[in-house]
Amino acid sequence: MANLLSYVLFLVLRTYAAPPEYIQVWPGGSTPAPGDLDNETVTPSLVPPPGTSKHKPHSIIIGVRKGGTRALLEMLDIHPEVAAAATEVHFFDWDENYAKGFEWYREQMPYSYPNQITVEKTPGYFTSPVAPARIHAMNSSIRLLLILRDPTERVISDYTQVFFNRLENHKPVQAIENMLVKNGALNTRYKAIQRSLYDVHMRNWLQHFPLEQIHIVDGDTLIHDPLPELQRVERFLDLPPRIVASNFYFNQTKGFYCIRNDGHERCLHESKGRPHPPVNSTVLRQLRLYLRQHNRNFYRLIGRTFNWQ
Ligand SMILES: *[C@@H]1O[C@H](CO)[C@@H](O)[C@H](O)[C@H]1NC(C)=O
Ligand SMILES: *[C@@H]1O[C@H](CO)[C@@H](O)[C@H](O)[C@H]1NC(C)=O
Ligand SMILES: *[C@@H]1O[C@H](CO)[C@@H](O)[C@H](O)[C@H]1NC(C)=O
Ligand SMILES: *[C@@H]1O[C@H](CO)[C@@H](O)[C@H](O)[C@H]1NC(C)=O
Repeated sequence: MANLLSYVLFLVLRTYAAPPEYIQVWPGGSTPAPGDLDNETVTPSLVPPPGTSKHKPHSIIIGVRKGGTRALLEMLDIHPEVAAAATEVHFFDWDENYAKGFEWYREQMPYSYPNQITVEKTPGYFTSPVAPARIHAMNSSIRLLLILRDPTERVISDYTQVFFNRLENHKPVQAIENMLVKNGALNTRYKAIQRSLYDVHMRNWLQHFPLEQIHIVDGDTLIHDPLPELQRVERFLDLPPRIVASNFYFNQTKGFYCIRNDGHERCLHESKGRPHPPVNSTVLRQLRLYLRQHNRNFYRLIGRTFNWQ
């Protein structure tokens, strides 16, 4: 009986526990991690803060997977006029979510004040064949953010993430060379390589959106010098300049930038910036060579070049 009672109590408490989006719009605009708040602070947010409501996103970070989408969203969230969705919604790329409709999508968004814009990120959108048309159907004038990095590095990073996920789930893992090479030739059907064909995916987006509506963030630059990239994003989204140099500090131990905002300091999850495995140099050269032509096509599509090898 006592067990049953405490279980019911647990359920009740769980139902009323503040989901992360309530915390998002805490006055002051900062987004402290749930652990930063003591229980007393969380309790009043059983109801959404007065004057807030949920809106479909004004801007979406569409990708690319392993490009730095989390870092970009967290850094953009420093801005007091940005309300960032806590999780990847996968609305436009997963049929079972899309079938739930736009009202369901809006419900997934954080509460925001009237002066805030809502931003969602799902890296799977960029490589989804159906996402561009679906986003266009929701809002044809939406502004899209795309963060990219060297596509060869991205392949290795993609592999590394899957490698560690499989390790954690006690599944068998393969050396990266076994994924990249099949029957002595580059395995161009390997998903990690497919996702790095930026020209192929971009062409699909440009069928539905003009280039001016897609702002590309240089993910390699963002990691080494975040402020200028964030300032470009502020301008693209017509946000007043609020993000400043003191919002970032370099963590020597981690080897990358952390965020300081309203007295809170936070760094990205440990899995970000994980070291990559060494890759057989012959295979690596094959991969670079294959991606080089795709990169050139991509530069032509967007009228801009990057220092990708
Ligand atoms: C806050 O709540 C957690 C569980 O939800 C509990 O373990 C912790 O002791 C509480 N802290 C305070 C200060 O009440
Ligand atoms: C569509 O997106 C634009 C750009 O963010 C925004 O100004 C506009 O209000 C949005 N329209 C709707 C219906 O949400
Ligand atoms: C820097 O990173 C290390 C290692 O992840 C972490 O333990 C430490 O708390 C961080 N320091 C600051 C000031 O963010
Ligand atoms: C790299 O792979 C190639 C085959 O693709 C092999 O011939 C070569 O010996 C490997 N190099 C090293 C250093 O393992």
